[in-house]
Amino acid sequence: MKALRVMFLTAVVLAISANAQAPASAQDATAFPADYKTKFTNYLSLDRTQNNDQIIRLFANDKALAAAKAGEKLPDGSVIVGEIYKARLDKDGKPVVSTLGRKIRDKLAVIAVMERRDGFGKDLPQELQNDGWDFAAFKPDGSSAGKDLNQCRACHAPLTDTQHLFSLQHMK
Ligand code: HEC
Repeated sequence: MKALRVMFLTAVVLAISANAQAPASAQDATAFPADYKTKFTNYLSLDRTQNNDQIIRLFANDKALAAAKAGEKLPDGSVIVGEIYKARLDKDGKPVVSTLGRKIRDKLAVIAVMERRDGFGKDLPQELQNDGWDFAAFKPDGSSAGKDLNQCRACHAPLTDTQHLFSLQHMK
């Protein structure tokens, strides 16, 4: 009887601790911002610095842009969207460069999202914390792209001077 009770309590504790981890690792804690194309502003489009064969178009909602322009901390509810496109490739698999010296957009591959929610991520290890920013990655149809979100967190986390954003200067 006692053994059973111990087993039961252990199961409860395990269930609770698994649940406590859930918000940080869950794929879909940030919802797909379905209206970004009409409601958000496209503040920057560029050949990606991160990946040679990709192009990124960046969008932000009004509250994020207003705070960035005022030089303030982007508030709870700020959302930034990165549409990541494949670059058109030549027959050798190298990105085609246009006469403007730019890569050419091919298919939309992933929609990367950052959303700031007050207090989010406090349970994450320090090197994965982004001061309330959560990350998500979607397929063009809005379903989860199944990415390891801790990779997103690890690369953006060191940017403490620019609110964990690479493109903050372009929002002003
Ligand atoms: C190895 C570094 C690295 C990783 C991993 C990474 N990013 Fe980024 N991210 C960047 C860089 C660099 C930019 C600036 C634009 C560019 O050159 O692509 C950026 C820009 C962004 C932006 C626009 C806001 C900003 O910071 O300027 C969003 C949103 C974003 N990334 C989301 C994600 C998501 C979601 C993931 C994981 C699926 C992710 N990132 C993984 C480096 C990274």
